[in-house]
Amino acid sequence: MDSHIARVLIDRQRIARRVHELADQIAGDLRVEAGGDGRPPLTLVAVMTGSVIFLADLIRSLPLMMSIRLITVSSYRGKATRAMEARIQGPLPQDLSGQHVVVVDDILDSGQTLELVRRRLEQARPASVRCCVLLRKQTPAARAVTVEYIGFDIPDQFVVGYGLDYNGHYRNLPDVVTLKPEVFA
Ligand code: IMP
Ligand code: MG
Repeated sequence: MDSHIARVLIDRQRIARRVHELADQIAGDLRVEAGGDGRPPLTLVAVMTGSVIFLADLIRSLPLMMSIRLITVSSYRGKATRAMEARIQGPLPQDLSGQHVVVVDDILDSGQTLELVRRRLEQARPASVRCCVLLRKQTPAARAVTVEYIGFDIPDQFVVGYGLDYNGHYRNLPDVVTLKPEVFA
């Protein structure tokens, strides 16, 4: 697997530091608003499967009472590296009314996924909806979607690792990397 890596874009230490910072930022925003003493509860809605590793690290730095819900959005892709139309698979989480919701995803690319998820979750009458992504690709479309928490801005390149896949693989690489061109051939 390592021989498929072209370049390490963001190494595990940088990711770990930034995830802590994001958690601090989220905790700072939500500590006074969410959880306990009659305040709205906090629910993290994670977009499968790319966000699993980010989610696992983020929540362990987030010292707030919370619940977790998982949703699956199909837009990808298999061997394609460009977005297709996003669709939420299965029912939305049912119990979000009155909750503070933080959507967690791996990467903001065309923005279709988060635009859709955000719009659908807002229909569930939560107290608030915020979005958190580890990566934002520098494309014009990515800038049009509201995302409150962004780990890193990256160039418009296809990346894998730390949860992100190509054709289902490479999610277990600890760093965010690009792949050699022959992998896509
Ligand atoms: P969007 O709907 O185009 O913003 O795409 C978001 C989804 O596409 C992400 O949740 C990822 O699952 C996938 N995706 C976008 N860019 C990449 C990439 O560079 N590597 C791996 N997956 C990606
Ligand atoms: Mg995804």
